[in-house]
Amino acid sequence: MSDAGTLLAPPGTAPAVPGRGASTTVATLEVVGKATVAEDVVALTLADPDGRRLPDWTPGAHIDLVLPSGDTRQYSLCGDRFDPRTYRVAVLRERDGRGGSAYVHDTLRAGDRVGVGGPRNNFPLVPSERYLFVAGGIGITPLLPMVAQAEVLGADWRLLYGGRRRASMAFLDELARHGERVHVMPQDETGLLDLPSFLGEPDPATKVYCCGPGPLLDAMGVACTAWPPTALRTERFVAEQAAPVRSAPFEVELARTGATVTVEPGTSVLEAVGAAGVEVLSSCRQGTCGTCETTVLAGVPDHRDSILDDAERAAGDCMFICVSRAADDRLVLDL
Ligand code: FES
Repeated sequence: MSDAGTLLAPPGTAPAVPGRGASTTVATLEVVGKATVAEDVVALTLADPDGRRLPDWTPGAHIDLVLPSGDTRQYSLCGDRFDPRTYRVAVLRERDGRGGSAYVHDTLRAGDRVGVGGPRNNFPLVPSERYLFVAGGIGITPLLPMVAQAEVLGADWRLLYGGRRRASMAFLDELARHGERVHVMPQDETGLLDLPSFLGEPDPATKVYCCGPGPLLDAMGVACTAWPPTALRTERFVAEQAAPVRSAPFEVELARTGATVTVEPGTSVLEAVGAAGVEVLSSCRQGTCGTCETTVLAGVPDHRDSILDDAERAAGDCMFICVSRAADDRLVLDL
């Protein structure tokens, strides 16, 4: 532990929000390890400075790292979920990023302290007899604990792991022990991933999990067209948003106070309710992290997040108010 460490966020507690069974508390953790695990990828090991137990998590969960600017970045937990004392995340240096990954790579060091929110899980592993996992690049991170879980449960599973080249692919050493279950496909050696041959015939007893860059997720959507609608589960780190279904203002009634807020085009629901004095915890503000999840009591949301699946969207009982809007004139939210 180092007193000279950088404190990225003061210890404190943010208000809890309804959500996916996860804490939104912002804690201060210490960087107890930093290691290069592939080209442009560093792994951070985080622990409570006083050695306290960390909140439990499940495969697919992520945490928020709070940066000195106050912005946050989400990183999948990729360590041992049964280790109650440490979290591990891996961070890819994003050449065109907004500076978060560069900070982690160039400035953050062992002994520093960081604000950490979560963990939160928008990408849970559901029970299944068989799993097919497909990872592209740093998308391996949420799948690592899923592979471990599938192994513990004795499920049948295989992993297809693509990357630009072998040296850029993190955790190959850890995956090697799984032998032929893992198909490592560096693009400069084997070309583009052959998704149809990896997936095989649609199988109702198989769940397919994919994490990686947008083009890979899009290709998986196409490759799984003939699969049952809930077979494919993906996680996007970068939001993909269509235009809102309506361009006119709409009203949001805040059920807990009875106040009504008008949301103008170009303003998010999150911003509009914030301006009315109702603070909702947020993080990514892109519809990818799940922090701002809000219960819908009436009205039809225009879902613009990258989290909910089709069935969850159709249920219409929750929305992510940083990006999602109203499909009609009025929403009633549990705020
Ligand atoms: S703040 Fe991340 S989904 Fe809304």
